[in-house]
Amino acid sequence: MGRSIETPAERPEVVPRPVSFRHAASSSRFTIRRQGANIEFRHEETGLSANIAAFVGSGLHSRTPVHRKPNGKFAELPLSQYAERGGYWAMSPGFDRADHSGMRRELSDGCIFCHAAYPSSERPLAAIDCQRCHGPGEEHAQSRGAIVNPAKLAPARKLEVCLQCHLETGGRDSPAAIRRVGRKPFSYRPGEPLGDFQLYFAAENPMDAGGIPVNGAGSGLLASVCYQRSGGKLGCTTCHDPHGVRIAAPDAACANCHARPHPENRGSCVTCHMPKRRTHDAVHVVMTDHRIRRQRPSGDPTAPAREKHGVFSGPVLLSYPPVFDPVPEIRAYLGIAAGSAPLLANGLAAMPQPPAAFLFELGRLESSRAERSFRRALAADPHHGGARLALAEWLIARKRPTEASALIEAAPAQDVALMNAHAVALVSEGRVDEAVLILNRAVLADTWDPLTHYNLGVAKLAKGDRDGAARDFQRALQLRPDFTQAREHLHEVRPGAR
Ligand code: HEC
Ligand code: HEC
Ligand code: HEC
Ligand code: HEC
Ligand code: HEC
Ligand code: HEC
Repeated sequence: MGRSIETPAERPEVVPRPVSFRHAASSSRFTIRRQGANIEFRHEETGLSANIAAFVGSGLHSRTPVHRKPNGKFAELPLSQYAERGGYWAMSPGFDRADHSGMRRELSDGCIFCHAAYPSSERPLAAIDCQRCHGPGEEHAQSRGAIVNPAKLAPARKLEVCLQCHLETGGRDSPAAIRRVGRKPFSYRPGEPLGDFQLYFAAENPMDAGGIPVNGAGSGLLASVCYQRSGGKLGCTTCHDPHGVRIAAPDAACANCHARPHPENRGSCVTCHMPKRRTHDAVHVVMTDHRIRRQRPSGDPTAPAREKHGVFSGPVLLSYPPVFDPVPEIRAYLGIAAGSAPLLANGLAAMPQPPAAFLFELGRLESSRAERSFRRALAADPHHGGARLALAEWLIARKRPTEASALIEAAPAQDVALMNAHAVALVSEGRVDEAVLILNRAVLADTWDPLTHYNLGVAKLAKGDRDGAARDFQRALQLRPDFTQAREHLHEVRPGAR
């Protein structure tokens, strides 16, 4: 964990010679090569390139390179290095599809929460450190003040020190954790009940029933009979040294509770009861099944697999914490997790003053009837940028651009998405010059946003500037090769252009 983030300078042995990888599904070739102190990542078809800022992952299983976009945000790169079979490069988890997100998929606060130290302006992306398990240490270092010693916590709180990062109950395409309203992304502190920070949901009928996810240790252990029947005596540190790398003798842990269960079965207990399995969400890695089961899964659980994609729908359950007061709030969260407007509305109806965040989510689920919920969200919190943007886009889609631009002008923002919505509204109102001004500001704020370039192209086209428009559509396509509308517009202004 202390090597969960590394820089190319810390790992000079990565990429000793140039890498060239062809991805058939997206008709792309990616190359990676060292250039002095830097490592350059390049999409050959479009010429888009960036220097690798860091690797997410110690390399024990894999390394996913990230670059820093001009707007300061880190974004995942589409290729990762996997440790299996002596090491090879292949698509990053989730990217093996025709319409992958190229070099744009930003590392969210959620990714950083689990893969890194608490971020600061000096260290925006650094490896996991002592504070993530022991709490902020500044006071402790200065005056030997309070620090959390997990050994002294109640069993559930101690387990949650690890679960804060090692619990994942949903998959890439199904419901997962929802941070509770009012909590900031990095505000969880060891020792605090994890359920006060976020709630975990799971599909009643998971799409990948039976398989294990890449981050499955926590949910696996919680589902084990050994855990459920041992009254808090089984935790991660029963088997793992939190400060070490490898487990010395996992079988010794079993022997604590199971003395000679079946002498006829020789060999390590874990090979049969905690086998290694290929994970369904990261198909190039093999992990340990932490759901201690009677029977080994049939067939070869490490056989090669292909990445699958789907869209989840269906009933959803609260998966963690195990107990939660059945107050209206929980119905509201369940509604969000399940994508069900009626369930969410039902929870909100019982709240005297529903918070803006819930009303915003309700609007997002209501599609054609969303206006009222978005307006209520803005009344509850005029600074809710998401609700303002969603309402503006809703109005634009219903040919009410004047109301949309008035809404945005009431609270001018530096947010690129909002600037784009504003510009689209202004173009429909015929206020094209104003739109161009705003879009030029948006380009300065984020030169890597394909939508801004596309909208700029549309605005220039409205002014009759075909050459300028063509350049903007081309830039939008460089940033997002599967941007169909940009391609269609480019063909309109420059028939025959690629
Ligand atoms: C801040 C988030 C975070 C916390 C807290 C955390 N982990 Fe991890 N842990 C990770 C990440 C991310 C990795 C993967 C590191 C890598 O290889 O890049 C990891 C890797 C591991 C590994 C794998 C090492 C290997 O050999 O593959 C073990 C075991 C582990 N953690 C156990 C624990 C235990 C036990 C706790 C609680 C005492 C804990 N973790 C707390 C995020 C966390
Ligand atoms: C709930 C915590 C959590 C969240 C949220 C999370 N990860 Fe992970 N992720 C993990 C853990 C733990 C592993 C397994 C690490 C291990 O044992 O090596 C993992 C595995 C991975 C892997 C496979 C490489 C490896 O070392 O196994 C990649 C790539 C990755 N995560 C990237 C991301 C990105 C990008 C995001 C945000 C979209 C993200 N993760 C969100 C905790 C998390
Ligand atoms: C992945 C979580 C994690 C990280 C990171 C971590 N610790 Fe710990 N630490 C624990 C846990 C869990 C315990 C309690 C172990 C037990 O049950 O005895 C502990 C115990 C301790 C203790 C108490 C003495 C002992 O060995 O029981 C000290 C001191 C300590 N850690 C220091 C550090 C320092 C310094 C760092 C950073 C270099 C660090 N820890 C990083 C989880 C962590
Ligand atoms: C009963 C023993 C046991 C318990 C309890 C246990 N683990 Fe493990 N864990 C293992 C074994 C065995 C391995 C495989 C080690 C190896 O291959 O070197 C492992 C491996 C891991 C890995 C490395 C990736 C993988 O899956 O191979 C992570 C991460 C991990 N454990 C996290 C946790 C967390 C978090 C907890 C608590 C929720 C936990 N473990 C509880 C036995 C245990
Ligand atoms: C903290 C104590 C504890 C530890 C450590 C532990 N178990 Fe268990 N295990 C239990 C308890 C309690 C049960 C339930 C027994 C019962 O109800 O008869 C159980 C049940 C089982 C079962 C039956 C599961 C089922 O679905 O019926 C298996 C298999 C098993 N353990 C294997 C292991 C293995 C292998 C290890 C080491 C990797 C291990 N256990 C570690 C306490 C533990
Ligand atoms: C060669 C594979 C294999 C090995 C090695 C193995 N087991 Fe098992 N174990 C099994 C199978 C299969 C069962 C289920 C038997 C059944 O359901 O009739 C089982 C059942 C169990 C049970 C449940 C017993 C019961 O009566 O309910 C426990 C506990 C257990 N094993 C623990 C261990 C421990 C601890 C070790 C290591 C000392 C170990 N096993 C090694 C295959 C193995």
